Amino acid sequence: MKTLIKNATVVLPDNVVQTSVLIDGTQIADIDVAVGVEADIEIDATGKHLLPGVIDDQVHFREPGLTHKEDLKHASRACAKGGVTSFLEMPNTIPNTITQAELDAKLKLASTRSLVNYGFYIGATPENVDTLKHATRTPGIKIFIGSSTGNLLVDEQSALEKIFRDTTLTICAHCEDESTVRANAEKYADSTNVADHSNVRDHKAALIATQRAIALANEYEHPFHVLHVSTGIEVEQALKSRSKWITSEVCPHHLFFSVDDYERLGSLVKMNPSVKNTQDNKQLWQALLDGHIDIIATDHAPHTMDEKRKPYPECPSGLPAVENSLALLLNQVHQGNCTLSQVVSWMCSGPAKIWDIKNKGQIKVGFDADLTLVDLNLTQTIRNEDQETKCGWSPWDNESLTGWPVATWVMGHQVFSRESERSKFNDQELGKEIQFDH
Ligand code: DOR
Repeated sequence: MKTLIKNATVVLPDNVVQTSVLIDGTQIADIDVAVGVEADIEIDATGKHLLPGVIDDQVHFREPGLTHKEDLKHASRACAKGGVTSFLEMPNTIPNTITQAELDAKLKLASTRSLVNYGFYIGATPENVDTLKHATRTPGIKIFIGSSTGNLLVDEQSALEKIFRDTTLTICAHCEDESTVRANAEKYADSTNVADHSNVRDHKAALIATQRAIALANEYEHPFHVLHVSTGIEVEQALKSRSKWITSEVCPHHLFFSVDDYERLGSLVKMNPSVKNTQDNKQLWQALLDGHIDIIATDHAPHTMDEKRKPYPECPSGLPAVENSLALLLNQVHQGNCTLSQVVSWMCSGPAKIWDIKNKGQIKVGFDADLTLVDLNLTQTIRNEDQETKCGWSPWDNESLTGWPVATWVMGHQVFSRESERSKFNDQELGKEIQFDH
């Protein structure tokens, strides 16, 4: 099956040009296609921009075990709608993904349910170094250096050293210092004010853990990715002078929400790491522009509205985002704060490079036909009732953004189209297991 996308402005690796792209089967077969070439489907994309599909390297899709919050079917539809064609999912499901058998079981599950391409991290425990050493079919190892949702935690220095010393896969970590968080939690033990979440999970907790993990990565010369950087001080004191072993990411919620939003949104903006100050928002954005932070990921972490409505501190941490992350960034392009090529580097080619993902993240002949067509002039309002995520809400409810995905292809098949206000999905073909160059 051949699809010809004509007249789009295409974001290529080195330039942005109005041209045509031919999809043949699962791959990009040609760019700047000769006149007269025929295809089964022809799409006139005049006025739209064609980007590589987004690769989100940090999501929690809750399957197996927590499917009352989210599942692969809903979450992958949300991805397709948001222009996300591949995701890498975290190990804090039930059971935790800490053995090769559990990882293989997740891959099997996704092969029957996910509309977009999928990969799963293997989770670290103090005891499973042998599994981590030999793990296959995975982007890398996830360590919770600070505890979050679930019970995964490795914070003992000797256990961390062993993982950095004895394994070879790229490691990523949730960096919040456990003892700092526990000491702060004691101080705020009587608080019922959700804003104190940012005092418990404070700047110091983030900085200590990030510096500690980076020191280990440098000592053992181990590729290491800092997940969801939330503070300006991590940029200043850890990322500006980083070595070649270190990469990092920031999430939309740490760019666009701050402690000032607790009053309006309460526990909907409670997440780990916590939101910080508007000054941090600015520093994180500048770090992206300056290249001190490499990529953007969502940490899509849905909980039901009933769970989120519980009083602080019981209300769980996390918010959904895959469906709106690209639009949030396209809105920044619209406002003149960054370019489309920067967004592609942060959300498509950057994650592919960090995780050794084969043939994805760029519009290039021979690469997988994972594509998203966006309308930079389309203004739409995010509404809870329109969300595909199973939890059925968004912290950006009621926000109007300009710049939206209008069509998404996964491995050559069109899985999503936005027709006026309506989303249309095609689940005749499902996504595929992501292949890695390691
Ligand atoms: O806020 C968060 N929620 N941060 C995490 O690291 C985990 C996530 C979840 O799984 O709920």
